[in-house]
Amino acid sequence: MQPYQLNIPTKAYFGRNILKEALKDLESMLRGNVLVVTTGRSLIRMGYTDMLIKMLEQSVFTEKLFMFDQISANPKLSEVRKGIQFGKQKNINVVVGFGGGSAMDAAKAIAVGIGANEEIEEFYVHGKEPGEETLPVLAIPTTAGTGSEFSKAAIITDEIRKKKSGIRGKALYPAAAVVDSMFTESVPDRITMETGFDVLAHAIESYVSKAASPYTQMQSEYAIHIVGKYLPLLKKDLQNREARENMSFASMIMGINLGNASTALPHRLQYPLGAHTDTSHGAGLAALFTAWAGYEWVYSQERMERAVQLLTGEDRTGKERITEGIRTFIKMCGLPSTLRELGVCESELETFAFEVSGNLENDLASQEENVILKIYQEAL
Ligand SMILES: [Fe+2]
Repeated sequence: MQPYQLNIPTKAYFGRNILKEALKDLESMLRGNVLVVTTGRSLIRMGYTDMLIKMLEQSVFTEKLFMFDQISANPKLSEVRKGIQFGKQKNINVVVGFGGGSAMDAAKAIAVGIGANEEIEEFYVHGKEPGEETLPVLAIPTTAGTGSEFSKAAIITDEIRKKKSGIRGKALYPAAAVVDSMFTESVPDRITMETGFDVLAHAIESYVSKAASPYTQMQSEYAIHIVGKYLPLLKKDLQNREARENMSFASMIMGINLGNASTALPHRLQYPLGAHTDTSHGAGLAALFTAWAGYEWVYSQERMERAVQLLTGEDRTGKERITEGIRTFIKMCGLPSTLRELGVCESELETFAFEVSGNLENDLASQEENVILKIYQEAL
């Protein structure tokens, strides 16, 4: 067995209705002025934001509480800048990211910006790795999907340059994460399916990743099985608590995989697609996934077959049966299985391919000549 290292620096709390207990335990972390970064609206409407604020007010070391709710889906660089400015004015010491991946990613980027003396562009555009001056982050996901609560990346969209990329580094690992599946119970169908598919993408991509270890593969196999079993149950009944809890668990362990085995080509290819079309992360992954699976099968046949067998519960082998299994699952979720369904035209594909960045070698299929453009074309 190859030696490997595991990074799980985030203190984790998991369970339905665990938030209150977790915040009590985290009191010493919530010291000074605390900024809650959230995507707002639906969480405010459901009364969840009030609930969180009331619980945070009980924290004996917290001096003042502030909220910044001007974050949209696919968080924008301009919003992050505003959050940093607000946080600096209020002398914030700790940042809480409350919401889906967008809120948590924005919270991490804001924590970098408040702590640093440099402008956020230094990290976002010039790729400087954030240091220890980054403020501690408490991540509280309200969807089961992105795994941002355990990852060392904050994905932000530069709306002027139409570019979506990340700030990355160890300092971005949240100090703690509270995964309370109760928050996911009111998430509507479309977001449930999109975020659920993101969990599956993390599971399969980290499974075939060159950086995969026996530990991350074991977690991937379990997560693929969970998604295959529980996401179809949620498609039929969004109130299924057992399914919600299991999806939150799968999302959490795939968050750990993100920091240890990373993702593969679908995540790299989704970023330009999301930046140009302003479509969601999960929808973009779904539209790319079948085409990618065909190429990946050539280079990781055994793992791809095992993954799709775990997903479908069927003994599937061969390229056609693998791509068919994935396509059928995407359609069951009601997600787009082609780029055209996201409004993409053929003339845009070369621009997308040109803008793909990040580590591509982590994916064995990157050996295929022109694989990026080929996947986009086939996904159209
Ligand atoms: Fe993802």
